[in-house]
Amino acid sequence: METPVKLIVGNWKMNGLTPALDEAGALRQALEADPVNARVGLCPPATLIAPMASTLGAGPVELGGQDCHDKDSGAFTGSVSAPMLADAGARLVILGHSERREGCGETDADVAAKVEAALRAGLEPIVCVGESLETREAGQAVAFVTAQVRASLPDALKERTFAVAYEPIWAIGTGLTPTLDQIAEVHAAIRAALVERVGEAGHRAPILYGGSMKPDNAADILAVPDVGGGLVGGASLKAEDFIRIIRAA
Ligand code: PGA
Repeated sequence: METPVKLIVGNWKMNGLTPALDEAGALRQALEADPVNARVGLCPPATLIAPMASTLGAGPVELGGQDCHDKDSGAFTGSVSAPMLADAGARLVILGHSERREGCGETDADVAAKVEAALRAGLEPIVCVGESLETREAGQAVAFVTAQVRASLPDALKERTFAVAYEPIWAIGTGLTPTLDQIAEVHAAIRAALVERVGEAGHRAPILYGGSMKPDNAADILAVPDVGGGLVGGASLKAEDFIRIIRAA
């Protein structure tokens, strides 16, 4: 079977003012000058999506949001809907990031409703799962993550294109990463849960690894069986670092 191309997505989180568009422009230029055999995405804060759509144009970098509301419009002050992301030029959307699950109290059911909203708007969801250090130390990482997969993915995904990101919470922004064996173990378990949950679509969906992915560890992590790409936070803010990760794919 042909190996599917990797999906490498940058998550800028709440970072980036207008001058940061230059980093997106530099990324586009670098990938146009020397193309890679990978899909590349950037998810800036909502305020930069529309201007970044101009920066990225029809080039090789896909654009995404970092969250969306589960309703398409209405009286939800401060929220951004999936149709709004699509209207601004996004094609992807990160959903269920641990910073939203923990910081904003999002449950698996909330995430599933957001995934449905994203699909209605024609966006490709990247659904995040991952255990805390406490859960890992209790030997429950696989059970916890597979339960999140089952409960965060709606039936509507059966016919659709989507990705899952395994992001151990204790690895995010800490410089710590799981061992390659630990990554392989969780990715295999996620694959099995995906297939059980959504059938054929679960075989196709890339499973990204996220959490302190850097230029110097990306090649090893991306070579682990069933690691279909990366979700990169801090190291995606500078085009120079992000390109080194992308070239490792
Ligand atoms: P990090 O973040 O690469 O800065 O650890 C990853 C993420 O939270 O998506």
